[in-house]
Amino acid sequence: MIQQKPFLKWAGGKRQLLNELEANFPPHIIETKQIDLYIEPFVGGGALLFYLLSNYSIKKSVINDINPDLMITYKVIKLFPEELIKKLREISEEYLVLSQEGRKRYFYNNLRTPYNKLKVKYNKQDKEAWIQKAALLIALNKTCFNGLFRQNSKGEFNVPIGYYKNPKILDEENINSCHIGLQNTEIYSSHYDSITISDKQNAFVYLDPPYRPLSDSSSFTKYSKEDFNDEDQKQLSEYYKKLSKKGHYLLLSNSDTKDNFFDELYKEFNIQRVFAKRHINSDSNGRGKVNELLIKNY
Ligand SMILES: C[S@@+](CC[C@H](N)C(=O)[O-])C[C@H]1O[C@@H](n2cnc3c(N)ncnc32)[C@H](O)[C@@H]1O
Repeated sequence: MIQQKPFLKWAGGKRQLLNELEANFPPHIIETKQIDLYIEPFVGGGALLFYLLSNYSIKKSVINDINPDLMITYKVIKLFPEELIKKLREISEEYLVLSQEGRKRYFYNNLRTPYNKLKVKYNKQDKEAWIQKAALLIALNKTCFNGLFRQNSKGEFNVPIGYYKNPKILDEENINSCHIGLQNTEIYSSHYDSITISDKQNAFVYLDPPYRPLSDSSSFTKYSKEDFNDEDQKQLSEYYKKLSKKGHYLLLSNSDTKDNFFDELYKEFNIQRVFAKRHINSDSNGRGKVNELLIKNY
């Protein structure tokens, strides 16, 4: 199997939690290393997706995220990897030779402003614009402060420049590997509840919604224009129960907020507490180890 890793650094990315997640897979999947249908409705950077594509035999997968630019980037990697690599090579060659001042100008004038100006729609394929948007998104993610993806209330990418000496704007080998890995993957961009799963096939579904914040000041859950509040967490538990009744295998992760919010919502299921290291956090005190919840219906 070809090794793949996330092509973006993503807030809430699960690379630090892969061992704990794997230890909590359904037993038949651990035993056979085979998955007929894998579904990830909040895919983000896809840490678990790419781990599974690299180490398990998956017949078909379905991924979704509400962020259209992110999902356009997945589509571009699936459909137009060569053109994307060419664009990223151009950007990388232009950027790396510049002085710090030059890089700053380039970041704002050649990456961030054009990214925010370029309007693309997920439901309307426009090959050239899609490739441009995807290249700018990857380049911004590699060169911005902390490698974050964050938008303001107008939907504009607003992270400032980060000072990395030699950012890997183009990782050609990984883009090619992800391209191969995504060939049996259906890609969507909508609200998670539009992902309906027939009860004919038992799917393995990993749900990694935006965290319920550990404190009020944490702005950790703002990936897109929409917030994910307690009401959304409650609705998600209804979706979880609906899928569970259909016989799918469900694994959900969230933060352990100490007030038994999730213990109450998911009381009929199997709740494990595991330690996790969080990497991207605006609050420097929050970088230590925190508890994470894994909720399984098996
Ligand atoms: C915790 S992150 C997922 C991180 C991912 N597991 C990884 O390894 O990178 C949560 C994701 O949910 C997405 N999201 C937020 N609200 C959503 C919704 N209503 N439906 C689908 N996706 C949503 C966000 O855009 C974000 O990418």
